[in-house]
Amino acid sequence: MHVLSATIDNLRSIASARLALNNPAERGMLYPNVNVILGNNGAGKSTLLRAIAMGILAPSLGDSGYRPDSMVRRAPSVKGRSAKSKAAKGAPPLTGRAGVTLTLHAQDWPATAPALPGKGELSLAGEIAVRGDFESFVWTDQPAKDVAAQLTDTYYKRQSSAFFLAGYGATRRVETSERLDPTARDKARSPRYARVAGLFEDHIALIPLESWLPDYREKNRGRYTQVIHLINKLLPPNCRLAEVLPDGAQRDYLFEMAGTVVPFRALSDGYKAYIGWIGDMLYHVCMNSPSGKKLVENHGVVLIDEVDLHLHPEWQQTVLPTLSKALPNVQFIVTTHSPLVVGSLEASNLFVLDVTGDGALVTRRPEKVHGASAEQILLSPYFGLESTRTREVAKDLRKLADQATADDPKAALEYLKLLAKRKIAS
Ligand SMILES: Nc1ncnc2c1ncn2[C@@H]1O[C@H](COP(=O)(O)OP(=O)(O)OP(=O)(O)O)[C@@H](O)[C@H]1O
Ligand SMILES: [Mg+2]
Repeated sequence: MHVLSATIDNLRSIASARLALNNPAERGMLYPNVNVILGNNGAGKSTLLRAIAMGILAPSLGDSGYRPDSMVRRAPSVKGRSAKSKAAKGAPPLTGRAGVTLTLHAQDWPATAPALPGKGELSLAGEIAVRGDFESFVWTDQPAKDVAAQLTDTYYKRQSSAFFLAGYGATRRVETSERLDPTARDKARSPRYARVAGLFEDHIALIPLESWLPDYREKNRGRYTQVIHLINKLLPPNCRLAEVLPDGAQRDYLFEMAGTVVPFRALSDGYKAYIGWIGDMLYHVCMNSPSGKKLVENHGVVLIDEVDLHLHPEWQQTVLPTLSKALPNVQFIVTTHSPLVVGSLEASNLFVLDVTGDGALVTRRPEKVHGASAEQILLSPYFGLESTRTREVAKDLRKLADQATADDPKAALEYLKLLAKRKIAS
């Protein structure tokens, strides 16, 4: 399953947005399975990821444990009325639909299942209904009864390899295996929703490698080897997964970091956050992939908020190309604030969320970015910075440049002196 397009209406800051997403079947692109959402803080990037998760899970979200909270877009402030008095009145939600509609590539639709209408694509839609202070999710535009039954009875089952979806919010913390209680997890949230719950709930912890991989080693040696291979492929060259500590003391995976062997819990925050979510993703891939199928053949959708979280600039340059090649059938939909992530991709991989007076809108840009410098990208419409220098210095330079172009030779000299002074000493 892949998302072909998404239409989002009146969710949080997004008034209306329509995206035609790239997917692994696309031809002629360097990284056809990568979609990156850009935009200022508060533009609605995380909202967009949440909306896509809601749309994909629409048939199974009803009693999944998901509770919408302030998802319906509120009316913009009325000029002249203070925020306080407005709040006291209770800012009304906008009228009109608040929800999401997705068109999915139904590549996993079994030949024996009831046929899908049209081109064999699947349309899923959901809305947030408001009653008093409460919001609730409603699956709308339900397909024909037999198709709906196929979806709910087969596709959304825990073990079904179709409709693989995992989502990672911006707070990524790995649970320690002693504290992990899988039964409590399953009781609170349906397994389908649990895989994306981190996008909606800050306190969701990721599943640690040591809670499942050692058993997997005993049960399915071939798969285990594939997991280790994939983890190492997704890590930078100076870090390798070494071996598991014996049972007894604290069971934990060992990593070889630049020649030193350290347990997972002793790794730096950046490595823990990164290994945490790729480990969790591989857990779900393993649980979902039917035996006999290679893990790298797994297809589905993975949503990652702030994909560059904690990563050094060098790693930011490689993270998406690495993920894209390691799991070529997975459609990645991610957000970032990093020009280095952007420079590793093509313009066709990028979507910009722009905030307008009437809510945020999604735009595509024609400017080429692959191989451009971070400075060029930051000054381009993808980020829209006027200068990458601190404001006062940029202002002084601009003033001197204006004077110099108006034939003031002294200003030209001052301009050069100021530039020389700001050079980073080697
Ligand atoms: N019910 C609502 N109606 C209107 N706006 C809302 C509502 N709930 C939240 N918002 C606003 O929607 C915006 C979107 O938030 P979102 O988390 O999607 O932004 P973001 O682009 O991910 O930002 P960041 O880069 O900081 O993570 C926020 O500015 C928030 O104030
Ligand atoms: Mg966000």
